[in-house]
Amino acid sequence: MKKIAFITGIAGQDGSYLAESLIKKNYKVYGIIRRNSVIEHQKSRLDHLNNKINVSYGDLLNESSLHNLLRKIKPHEIYNLAAQSHVKISFEIPQFTIKTNALGVVNILEAYRLNCPKAKFYQASSSEMFGRSVDKDGYQRETTPFQPTSPYGCAKVFAFNIVKHYRIAYKLFASNGILFNHESPRRGSNFVTNKVVKTAVKIKLGLEKKLELGNIHAFRDWGHSKDYVEAMRLILNYKKADDWVIATGQTRSVKQMTDYVFNKLRLNKKKHIFINKKYFRPEELKYLRGDSSKAKKYLKWKPKYKFEKMLDEMIDFWMDYYERS
Ligand code: GDD
Repeated sequence: MKKIAFITGIAGQDGSYLAESLIKKNYKVYGIIRRNSVIEHQKSRLDHLNNKINVSYGDLLNESSLHNLLRKIKPHEIYNLAAQSHVKISFEIPQFTIKTNALGVVNILEAYRLNCPKAKFYQASSSEMFGRSVDKDGYQRETTPFQPTSPYGCAKVFAFNIVKHYRIAYKLFASNGILFNHESPRRGSNFVTNKVVKTAVKIKLGLEKKLELGNIHAFRDWGHSKDYVEAMRLILNYKKADDWVIATGQTRSVKQMTDYVFNKLRLNKKKHIFINKKYFRPEELKYLRGDSSKAKKYLKWKPKYKFEKMLDEMIDFWMDYYERS
Protein backbone atom coordinates (compact mmCIF):
# COMPACT_ATOMS: atom_id res chain seq x y z
CA MET A 1 0.00 0.00 0.00
CA LYS A 2 1.22 3.51 -0.83
CA LYS A 3 2.17 5.67 2.13
CA ILE A 4 -0.02 8.75 2.45
CA ALA A 5 1.48 12.12 3.36
CA PHE A 6 -0.33 15.33 4.26
CA ILE A 7 1.56 18.63 3.92
CA THR A 8 0.39 22.00 5.21
CA GLY A 9 2.24 24.82 3.44
CA ILE A 10 2.62 22.62 0.34
CA ALA A 11 2.78 25.67 -1.95
CA GLY A 12 5.86 27.04 -0.18
CA GLN A 13 9.54 26.46 -0.96
CA ASP A 14 9.88 23.47 1.39
CA GLY A 15 6.37 22.12 0.75
CA SER A 16 6.93 21.94 -2.99
CA TYR A 17 10.35 20.25 -2.71
CA LEU A 18 9.00 17.86 -0.08
CA ALA A 19 6.02 16.94 -2.28
CA GLU A 20 8.40 16.19 -5.19
CA SER A 21 10.65 14.09 -3.03
CA LEU A 22 7.78 12.07 -1.52
CA ILE A 23 6.23 11.43 -4.95
CA LYS A 24 9.58 10.01 -6.07
CA LYS A 25 9.43 7.73 -3.05
CA ASN A 26 5.98 6.54 -4.20
CA TYR A 27 3.92 8.37 -1.56
CA LYS A 28 0.41 9.62 -2.24
CA VAL A 29 0.62 13.33 -1.40
CA TYR A 30 -2.13 15.61 -0.11
CA GLY A 31 -1.78 19.24 0.84
CA ILE A 32 -3.64 22.40 1.73
CA ILE A 33 -3.17 25.92 0.44
CA ARG A 34 -4.71 29.14 1.70
CA ARG A 35 -6.98 31.15 -0.52
CA ASN A 36 -5.22 34.14 -2.06
CA SER A 37 -6.69 36.76 -4.37
CA VAL A 38 -3.94 36.27 -6.97
CA ILE A 39 -4.30 32.66 -8.06
CA GLU A 40 -0.99 32.68 -10.02
CA HIS A 41 0.94 33.33 -6.81
CA GLN A 42 -0.66 30.47 -5.06
CA LYS A 43 0.40 27.40 -6.94
CA SER A 44 3.32 28.53 -9.08
CA ARG A 45 5.74 26.22 -7.23
CA LEU A 46 3.36 23.30 -7.75
CA ASP A 47 2.31 23.70 -11.39
CA HIS A 48 4.71 21.00 -12.60
CA LEU A 49 3.18 18.53 -10.11
CA ASN A 50 -0.37 19.22 -11.22
CA ASN A 51 -1.74 15.70 -11.62
CA LYS A 52 0.50 14.09 -9.06
CA ILE A 53 -0.73 15.75 -5.86
CA ASN A 54 -4.09 16.37 -4.23
CA VAL A 55 -4.43 19.97 -3.14
CA SER A 56 -7.42 21.58 -1.43
CA TYR A 57 -8.11 24.87 0.29
CA GLY A 58 -7.50 24.89 4.01
CA ASP A 59 -5.98 26.92 6.80
CA LEU A 60 -4.44 26.16 10.17
CA LEU A 61 -6.96 28.58 11.67
CA ASN A 62 -9.92 26.83 10.03
CA GLU A 63 -10.23 23.78 12.28
CA SER A 64 -13.08 22.03 10.46
CA SER A 65 -11.07 21.81 7.23
CA LEU A 66 -8.25 20.10 9.13
CA HIS A 67 -10.54 17.62 10.88
CA ASN A 68 -12.46 16.78 7.68
CA LEU A 69 -9.32 16.20 5.66
CA LEU A 70 -7.44 14.14 8.21
CA ARG A 71 -10.55 12.02 8.89
CA LYS A 72 -10.92 11.42 5.16
CA ILE A 73 -7.35 10.76 4.03
CA LYS A 74 -5.97 9.10 7.18
CA PRO A 75 -2.35 10.00 6.46
CA HIS A 76 0.65 8.03 7.69
CA GLU A 77 2.75 11.18 7.87
CA ILE A 78 1.77 14.80 8.56
CA TYR A 79 4.21 17.62 7.77
CA ASN A 80 3.19 20.93 9.33
CA LEU A 81 5.10 23.46 7.26
CA ALA A 82 2.44 26.18 7.08
CA ALA A 83 3.33 29.42 8.85
CA GLN A 84 3.68 33.15 8.60
CA SER A 85 7.33 32.54 7.86
CA HIS A 86 8.82 36.04 7.56
CA VAL A 87 10.56 37.20 10.75
CA LYS A 88 10.55 40.96 9.99
CA ILE A 89 6.87 40.85 9.00
CA SER A 90 6.09 39.16 12.34
CA PHE A 91 6.86 42.50 14.05
CA GLU A 92 4.25 44.18 11.84
CA ILE A 93 1.53 41.52 12.23
CA PRO A 94 2.33 39.91 15.61
CA GLN A 95 -1.18 38.73 16.43
CA PHE A 96 -1.70 37.04 13.07
CA THR A 97 1.77 35.46 13.28
CA ILE A 98 1.10 34.09 16.75
CA LYS A 99 -2.37 32.84 15.84
CA THR A 100 -1.04 30.98 12.80
CA ASN A 101 2.32 29.79 14.12
CA ALA A 102 1.24 28.91 17.68
CA LEU A 103 -2.55 28.44 17.90
CA GLY A 104 -2.54 26.97 14.37
CA VAL A 105 -0.21 24.22 15.60
CA VAL A 106 -2.58 23.36 18.45
CA ASN A 107 -5.38 23.15 15.88
CA ILE A 108 -3.56 20.66 13.67
CA LEU A 109 -2.28 18.68 16.67
CA GLU A 110 -5.87 18.29 17.90
CA ALA A 111 -7.08 17.26 14.44
CA TYR A 112 -4.23 14.71 14.37
CA ARG A 113 -4.87 13.38 17.88
CA LEU A 114 -8.60 13.00 17.34
CA ASN A 115 -8.66 11.68 13.76
CA CYS A 116 -5.44 9.79 12.98
CA PRO A 117 -3.35 9.34 16.16
CA LYS A 118 -1.34 6.52 14.57
CA ALA A 119 0.16 8.95 12.07
CA LYS A 120 3.58 10.55 12.52
CA PHE A 121 3.73 14.33 12.87
CA TYR A 122 6.51 16.71 11.81
CA GLN A 123 6.62 20.29 13.10
CA ALA A 124 8.65 22.92 11.23
CA SER A 125 10.51 24.35 14.21
CA SER A 126 13.12 27.00 13.59
CA SER A 127 16.59 28.16 14.59
CA GLU A 128 14.95 31.55 15.16
CA MET A 129 13.88 30.02 18.52
CA PHE A 130 17.50 30.27 19.77
CA GLY A 131 17.52 34.04 19.39
CA ARG A 132 20.19 35.50 21.70
CA SER A 133 21.40 32.10 22.86
CA VAL A 134 24.70 30.56 21.68
CA ASP A 135 26.72 27.79 23.39
CA LYS A 136 30.26 28.64 24.51
CA ASP A 137 31.76 26.87 21.48
CA GLY A 138 29.79 29.10 19.09
CA TYR A 139 27.09 26.59 18.07
CA GLN A 140 23.40 26.08 18.73
CA ARG A 141 22.19 22.52 19.28
CA GLU A 142 19.21 20.59 20.71
CA THR A 143 20.26 21.45 24.30
CA THR A 144 20.81 25.20 23.73
CA PRO A 145 18.18 27.25 25.64
CA PHE A 146 15.67 29.24 23.59
CA GLN A 147 15.77 33.06 23.88
CA PRO A 148 13.68 34.24 20.91
CA THR A 149 14.07 37.76 19.56
CA SER A 150 10.89 38.14 17.46
CA PRO A 151 7.14 37.44 17.62
CA TYR A 152 7.86 34.72 15.03
CA GLY A 153 10.49 33.13 17.29
CA CYS A 154 8.23 33.33 20.36
CA ALA A 155 5.38 31.60 18.50
CA LYS A 156 7.74 28.88 17.24
CA VAL A 157 8.94 28.23 20.82
CA PHE A 158 5.33 27.73 21.91
CA ALA A 159 4.74 25.36 18.97
CA PHE A 160 7.91 23.41 19.75
CA ASN A 161 6.83 22.94 23.36
CA ILE A 162 3.25 21.95 22.60
CA VAL A 163 4.46 19.34 20.07
CA LYS A 164 6.76 17.88 22.73
CA HIS A 165 3.91 17.97 25.24
CA TYR A 166 1.58 16.05 22.88
CA ARG A 167 4.37 13.50 22.33
CA ILE A 168 4.63 12.84 26.06
CA ALA A 169 1.03 13.32 27.21
CA TYR A 170 -0.71 11.37 24.41
CA LYS A 171 2.19 9.12 23.32
CA LEU A 172 2.00 10.48 19.79
CA PHE A 173 4.84 10.26 17.28
CA ALA A 174 5.32 14.04 17.09
CA SER A 175 8.78 15.37 16.19
CA ASN A 176 10.38 18.79 15.83
CA GLY A 177 12.88 19.57 13.09
CA ILE A 178 14.82 22.66 14.23
CA LEU A 179 15.85 23.86 10.79
CA PHE A 180 18.39 26.61 10.26
CA ASN A 181 17.96 28.96 7.26
CA HIS A 182 17.53 27.13 3.98
CA GLU A 183 17.30 28.63 0.54
CA SER A 184 16.87 27.79 -3.15
CA PRO A 185 15.64 29.44 -6.35
CA ARG A 186 12.13 28.87 -4.95
CA ARG A 187 12.79 31.04 -1.88
CA GLY A 188 10.47 34.03 -1.56
CA SER A 189 12.30 37.11 -2.81
CA ASN A 190 11.77 39.11 0.39
CA PHE A 191 14.16 36.74 2.20
CA VAL A 192 17.71 38.02 2.06
CA THR A 193 19.47 35.44 -0.17
CA ASN A 194 16.96 35.52 -2.96
CA LYS A 195 16.51 39.28 -2.63
CA VAL A 196 20.27 39.75 -3.09
CA VAL A 197 20.60 37.27 -5.97
CA LYS A 198 17.51 38.43 -7.86
CA THR A 199 18.37 42.14 -7.52
CA ALA A 200 22.04 41.58 -8.43
CA VAL A 201 21.01 39.71 -11.59
CA LYS A 202 18.62 42.55 -12.49
CA ILE A 203 21.45 45.07 -11.95
CA LYS A 204 23.72 42.98 -14.16
CA LEU A 205 21.10 42.98 -16.91
CA GLY A 206 20.47 46.71 -16.58
CA LEU A 207 16.95 46.22 -15.17
CA GLU A 208 17.72 47.68 -11.72
CA LYS A 209 20.23 50.15 -10.28
CA LYS A 210 20.44 49.54 -6.54
CA LEU A 211 20.09 46.96 -3.83
CA GLU A 212 18.87 48.18 -0.42
CA LEU A 213 19.64 46.04 2.61
CA GLY A 214 19.26 46.16 6.39
CA ASN A 215 21.68 44.58 8.86
CA ILE A 216 24.45 43.09 6.73
CA HIS A 217 26.46 42.09 9.82
CA ALA A 218 24.01 39.36 10.88
CA PHE A 219 25.38 35.81 10.58
CA ARG A 220 23.33 32.87 9.32
CA ASP A 221 23.89 29.17 8.74
CA TRP A 222 22.47 28.74 5.22
CA GLY A 223 21.70 25.35 3.67
CA HIS A 224 19.69 24.20 0.65
CA SER A 225 15.97 23.48 0.99
CA LYS A 226 16.29 20.25 -1.04
CA ASP A 227 18.70 18.81 1.52
CA TYR A 228 16.49 19.94 4.40
CA VAL A 229 13.27 18.32 3.14
CA GLU A 230 15.18 15.01 3.02
CA ALA A 231 15.91 15.50 6.72
CA MET A 232 12.18 15.99 7.40
CA ARG A 233 11.36 12.57 5.91
CA LEU A 234 14.21 10.89 7.80
CA ILE A 235 12.96 12.47 11.04
CA LEU A 236 9.53 10.87 10.60
CA ASN A 237 11.01 7.55 9.55
CA TYR A 238 13.29 7.29 12.58
CA LYS A 239 12.34 4.70 15.20
CA LYS A 240 11.14 7.26 17.76
CA ALA A 241 9.84 10.81 17.91
CA ASP A 242 12.45 13.38 18.93
CA ASP A 243 13.81 16.91 18.34
CA TRP A 244 16.50 17.43 15.70
CA VAL A 245 18.78 20.30 14.67
CA ILE A 246 19.30 20.47 10.89
CA ALA A 247 22.11 22.81 9.80
CA THR A 248 25.33 22.95 7.78
CA GLY A 249 27.57 23.94 10.72
CA GLN A 250 28.95 26.90 8.77
CA THR A 251 28.08 30.53 9.32
CA ARG A 252 28.49 33.59 7.10
CA SER A 253 27.41 37.19 7.35
CA VAL A 254 24.85 38.75 5.03
CA LYS A 255 27.79 40.88 3.79
CA GLN A 256 29.87 37.79 2.93
CA MET A 257 26.91 36.24 1.09
CA THR A 258 26.33 39.50 -0.82
CA ASP A 259 30.06 39.79 -1.65
CA TYR A 260 30.03 36.31 -3.18
CA VAL A 261 27.05 37.13 -5.42
CA PHE A 262 28.40 40.53 -6.52
CA ASN A 263 31.89 39.13 -7.19
CA LYS A 264 30.45 36.24 -9.19
CA LEU A 265 28.51 38.70 -11.36
CA ARG A 266 31.46 41.12 -11.49
CA LEU A 267 29.44 43.97 -10.05
CA ASN A 268 30.73 46.97 -8.12
CA LYS A 269 29.29 46.78 -4.59
CA LYS A 270 30.05 50.40 -3.71
CA LYS A 271 28.06 51.60 -6.70
CA HIS A 272 24.94 49.53 -6.12
CA ILE A 273 24.50 48.55 -2.44
CA PHE A 274 22.83 50.90 0.07
CA ILE A 275 21.79 50.42 3.69
CA ASN A 276 18.21 51.36 4.49
CA LYS A 277 17.01 51.49 8.11
CA LYS A 278 13.59 50.23 7.07
CA TYR A 279 15.00 46.71 6.68
CA PHE A 280 16.27 46.57 10.28
CA ARG A 281 14.23 44.71 12.89
CA PRO A 282 13.31 46.09 16.35
CA GLU A 283 15.52 43.33 17.77
CA GLU A 284 18.08 41.60 15.55
CA LEU A 285 19.06 37.95 15.79
CA LYS A 286 22.78 38.38 15.29
CA TYR A 287 24.31 34.94 14.95
CA LEU A 288 23.27 31.40 13.99
CA ARG A 289 25.45 28.33 13.55
CA GLY A 290 23.92 24.91 14.04
CA ASP A 291 25.46 21.68 15.25
CA SER A 292 23.58 18.81 13.60
CA SER A 293 25.81 16.01 14.95
CA LYS A 294 22.77 14.21 16.36
CA ALA A 295 21.02 14.09 12.95
CA LYS A 296 24.27 13.01 11.29
CA LYS A 297 24.77 10.20 13.79
CA TYR A 298 21.26 8.79 14.08
CA LEU A 299 19.47 9.84 10.87
CA LYS A 300 22.61 9.50 8.73
CA TRP A 301 21.70 12.90 7.31
CA LYS A 302 24.19 15.29 5.86
CA PRO A 303 23.80 18.20 3.45
CA LYS A 304 24.89 17.61 -0.17
CA TYR A 305 24.88 21.22 -1.34
CA LYS A 306 27.77 23.60 -0.69
CA PHE A 307 26.94 27.25 0.02
CA GLU A 308 28.55 28.50 -3.23
CA LYS A 309 26.80 25.86 -5.36
CA MET A 310 23.46 26.90 -3.89
CA LEU A 311 24.04 30.58 -4.69
CA ASP A 312 25.29 29.68 -8.19
CA GLU A 313 22.08 27.72 -8.78
CA MET A 314 20.03 30.74 -7.67
CA ILE A 315 22.05 33.09 -9.91
CA ASP A 316 21.57 30.77 -12.92
CA PHE A 317 17.84 30.52 -12.20
CA TRP A 318 17.30 34.30 -12.22
CA MET A 319 19.63 34.85 -15.19
CA ASP A 320 17.64 32.32 -17.16
CA TYR A 321 14.33 33.81 -15.97
CA TYR A 322 15.15 37.39 -17.02
CA GLU A 323 16.88 36.43 -20.24
CA ARG A 324 13.79 34.48 -21.31
CA SER A 325 11.27 37.17 -20.32
N1 GDD B 1 14.73 39.72 4.57
C1 GDD B 1 15.77 40.58 4.63
N2 GDD B 1 15.80 41.66 3.80
N3 GDD B 1 16.75 40.34 5.53
C2 GDD B 1 17.79 41.20 5.56
C3 GDD B 1 17.88 42.31 4.72
C4 GDD B 1 16.83 42.56 3.80
O1 GDD B 1 16.83 43.51 3.04
N4 GDD B 1 19.04 42.96 4.98
C5 GDD B 1 19.65 42.27 5.96
N5 GDD B 1 18.90 41.21 6.32
C6 GDD B 1 19.24 40.24 7.38
C7 GDD B 1 18.13 40.05 8.41
O2 GDD B 1 18.13 41.10 9.38
C8 GDD B 1 18.54 38.70 9.00
O3 GDD B 1 19.52 38.91 9.99
C9 GDD B 1 19.18 37.96 7.81
O4 GDD B 1 19.39 38.95 6.80
C10 GDD B 1 18.33 36.85 7.24
O5 GDD B 1 17.03 37.36 7.01
P1 GDD B 1 15.93 36.49 6.23
O6 GDD B 1 16.46 35.96 4.98
O7 GDD B 1 14.68 37.30 6.18
O8 GDD B 1 15.74 35.19 7.17
P2 GDD B 1 15.57 35.04 8.76
O9 GDD B 1 16.86 34.53 9.31
O10 GDD B 1 15.01 36.26 9.37
O11 GDD B 1 14.44 33.91 8.85
C11 GDD B 1 14.49 32.74 8.04
O12 GDD B 1 15.17 31.70 8.70
C12 GDD B 1 14.51 31.18 9.86
C13 GDD B 1 15.40 30.07 10.41
O13 GDD B 1 16.34 30.65 11.26
C14 GDD B 1 13.04 32.36 7.69
O14 GDD B 1 13.07 31.36 6.70
C15 GDD B 1 12.31 31.81 8.89
O15 GDD B 1 11.01 31.34 8.49
C16 GDD B 1 13.13 30.65 9.46
O16 GDD B 1 12.48 30.09 10.57
